[in-house]
Amino acid sequence: MIALGCDHGGYALMQTVIAHLKEKNIDCKNFGTYSEDSCDYPVIAESVSRSVVSGECALGILICGTGIGMSIAANKINGIRAAVCSDTYSAEMTRRHNDANILALGARVIGPGLALRIIDTFLDTPFEGGRHARRISMFADLEARR
Ligand code: RB5
Repeated sequence: MIALGCDHGGYALMQTVIAHLKEKNIDCKNFGTYSEDSCDYPVIAESVSRSVVSGECALGILICGTGIGMSIAANKINGIRAAVCSDTYSAEMTRRHNDANILALGARVIGPGLALRIIDTFLDTPFEGGRHARRISMFADLEARR
C-alpha cells in the first residue's frame, strides 16, 4: 500500500499520480487534501508519515509546490526518510542508498511526465542494504539525540 498526500499546490499533479497508480494496479491510501482550497501541508505530511512508520503503508508520496515543505515536515517524524526528487537518478539512489520511505515532489518544479517517471523509479528500486544499512541505523541514533 502506498500512502499519498498533497496540499493545494500539489493537488492537480496528485490527480494525475492517482490515475497512474490505479492504472498500474498499485493500492493506495489517499490522505488528502481533496481540493485546491488552501491547506497546511504539515498536517498532511504527518498523516502520511505516521501511516508509513506504523507499517500500514510501505512507502509514501507527498506533493506540494516545491516538495520541500512536505519533506521537512515528514522528516520530523522518527523513522521517516523523505527525499525531494526532481530527477530519476536521485529517486533511484535515494532508494538504493538512503532507503527513503517517502518521495516528495514539487508540482511547481517538475511536469507530470517527469513526476510519473520519478515515481515509477522510486517504487521499483530496492534498498541495497550492506554498508548503507549501517548508515541508516545511525539515523535512529540522531533521532534519539534530538
Ligand atoms: C503553498 O503555497 C506552498 O508553500 C507549498 O505547496 C509548498 O511548496 C511548501 O513547501
